[in-house]
Amino acid sequence: MHRKPSWILVSTFLSLSFLTACAQNSGKSKDAEGHQWWQHAVFYEIYPRSFADSNNDGIGDLKGITSKLNYLKDLGVDAIWISPCFPSPQVDFGYNVSDYENIDPMYGTLADFDVLASEAKKRGIHIILDFVVNHTSDQHKWFLDSKSSRTSEHRDWYVWRDGKGPGHPPNNWNSDFGGSAWKFDPTTNQYYYHYFYVQQPDLNWRNPAVKDAMFDVTRWWYQRGVSGFRLDAVDTLFEDPNLRDNPVTGGTNPYGDPYEEKIYTTKLPEVHDVLRGLRKVTDQYNGVLIGETWTANIAELNKYYGESNNELQLPMDFLFTTVNKLSPAEFRKQIAAVDAASGWPTFVISNHDIVRSYDRYGDGQHNDQIAKLMAGLYLTLRGTPILYYGEEIGMKTTPPMRKEDVKDPIGRTGWPKEKGRDGERTPMQWNESANAGFSTAASWLPVPPTAATHNVADESKDPDSVLAFYKKVLKLRHANRALLDGTYVPLNENDQNVLSYLRSYKDQVVLVALNMSGAEQKINFEMSQHGFSTTKSLVATGTSSAKGDVVTLEPYGVFIGQLSK
Ligand code: NOJ
Ligand code: CA
Repeated sequence: MHRKPSWILVSTFLSLSFLTACAQNSGKSKDAEGHQWWQHAVFYEIYPRSFADSNNDGIGDLKGITSKLNYLKDLGVDAIWISPCFPSPQVDFGYNVSDYENIDPMYGTLADFDVLASEAKKRGIHIILDFVVNHTSDQHKWFLDSKSSRTSEHRDWYVWRDGKGPGHPPNNWNSDFGGSAWKFDPTTNQYYYHYFYVQQPDLNWRNPAVKDAMFDVTRWWYQRGVSGFRLDAVDTLFEDPNLRDNPVTGGTNPYGDPYEEKIYTTKLPEVHDVLRGLRKVTDQYNGVLIGETWTANIAELNKYYGESNNELQLPMDFLFTTVNKLSPAEFRKQIAAVDAASGWPTFVISNHDIVRSYDRYGDGQHNDQIAKLMAGLYLTLRGTPILYYGEEIGMKTTPPMRKEDVKDPIGRTGWPKEKGRDGERTPMQWNESANAGFSTAASWLPVPPTAATHNVADESKDPDSVLAFYKKVLKLRHANRALLDGTYVPLNENDQNVLSYLRSYKDQVVLVALNMSGAEQKINFEMSQHGFSTTKSLVATGTSSAKGDVVTLEPYGVFIGQLSK
């Protein structure tokens, strides 16, 4: 069936795009057209335990990452974000840091980090570290001192309060990971506050000494060659100083706690003072700040960019990950919203805390096609994409089947309603050998059976694989100015099967058409009526192609083409 497109004047968008770009790039180190390095870079998240194990103890490490830099370069990655690799008792697999200025021995040494940094630099790959700002480990020397006495030097570095009475915490605040957010400590007869696990006491960011020490941590790493940070759980930095109870909203969560509206424990305005301060340090090093920013709407996301784009450059738009079906209408709505945000968009479809995109969008029969479709979407939008390791080979979420196999503590507390996050953290699948080439030892989480069909070695040889498709799109993206900088112009906004848009930059126009249905689609885009005489295919799946004004898309097909006059 042929449908009529709804073209909007591309030229209007061209001028708008120019103005937007100017407004966003008031910093330094821009390219000739005013873009910063992180606007054109493709980021890739590495969960270090699970990426590559160099010493065969079953746990990934830094030397393992270094050994895979050529793979990452070839894939088209410009920056790697490494989830926490600092010394840690590993209760939350690195998100409980006991020393911010070192490397956990299980991942290697600072010397290994230096080698990784210099090898990455040789290949033009930036390194981004994960900065756990809200809390430390309960084994961090600051907390050990803090808990030792009410008058210790670091006492006020954490949030200590009296209980309401014997056995009664200061208020009703619950931990995100189950139970009260307050833990009684008999040494000093007070409670300390922990938004996450008991072993993750919250820092007191109202104390200027905390701020200074944490800002210094970023300087220390910038001077060692890192290019920025992903800021963990930024919305949890501050709590209501009056300790007002959070409103209870009814029902209980998987841990058996009453649901609360976290108005006194998240998103307090003071967060933005800290972000502005961190950004000032970052700007001195031409770095980038990525935010773990769970927001309810774009107005909230805008706050994280800062009133004058002086906070986070790349707050992640997780609203995009909440569109959990192949719905052109819902994607259109979300893309338009983030495209109109006050800063440069950032797109993610998976990470180490959420079910992989392969399963969220896959229908069980066409998952590989759908994995390519999703790549065709988020790698061609206006904004910086952040891939999650394994997404490029179609890795599947493989949760534990039995409670006794669960490694992630929330999976044990919340079983069976909450099985934890092990399923999306399984070892990277490098080849078909035992342990998928991740390690010669048994890996810390079992290798999923799908390693036999989805692995780097096999997919590298198959021109039709998910990996081959990612490489093609990323190669195109790096070379194509319209995909890098062009405006986003939605087309055919009533189409319920095909999501299509233009990316326009000066006289370059790229058409992206994504079939979100399981039936073939033919669309007459009427390019000739708008002065475009040819449509050259740049990247397409299977039989998807253009002839004259008509684009034919195979089921779940992708067509990316260059329009020329
Ligand atoms: C968000 C991280 O992504 C998650 O893995 C971690 O458990 C919490 N923050 C606590 O640090
Ligand atoms: Ca290892």
